[in-house]
Amino acid sequence: MMKKCLLVALPLLAMTMLSLAAIGQVSKGKTRPLLTKQLMGGLVQPNCKNLGGGLKEAPADDKAWAALATNAALLNEAGHILMADGRCPDAEWAGAAKTLRECSEVVLAKIEAKDAEGAQGAFKAMTASCAACHKAHKK
Ligand code: HEC
Repeated sequence: MMKKCLLVALPLLAMTMLSLAAIGQVSKGKTRPLLTKQLMGGLVQPNCKNLGGGLKEAPADDKAWAALATNAALLNEAGHILMADGRCPDAEWAGAAKTLRECSEVVLAKIEAKDAEGAQGAFKAMTASCAACHKAHKK
């Protein structure tokens, strides 16, 4: 009887601990202080907003292109931060972070080629990563 209870209780305990760990990881990494909320509000959102706004019309000069390149590169970096410090809880998160990294790299390449239309297309694909991760993990 004891043995049977243990067999049931142990996996339950393990699952509870795993899900508790996952909750912690979503809102923050394991050792660094940066909250996911701060990462989103301070880095991801402003760069996404500038990039999307700046690509609506072809950038006017080299300075404007360079500013958009900065936005795309920082969004790419955010895709790495999302996977660092034990923050990632599951495959959905990892997949969205990968989309963010890969599409922001394409955006950057199109910006370097001064291809505003191409950059806009890749930007749209990139924003699918925001929606995918938020649907699964943003309360
Ligand atoms: C891999 C997951 C993931 C990706 C990708 C992601 N987010 Fe988030 N985002 C979150 C989570 C989780 C929260 C909720 C954080 C919390 O409140 O603890 C959040 C919250 C936010 C918030 C609210 C911040 C606040 O102050 O409450 C904004 C704005 C945001 N994200 C913008 C974006 C944009 C724009 C993108 C795409 C460029 C994006 N996010 C991509 C996971 C992600």
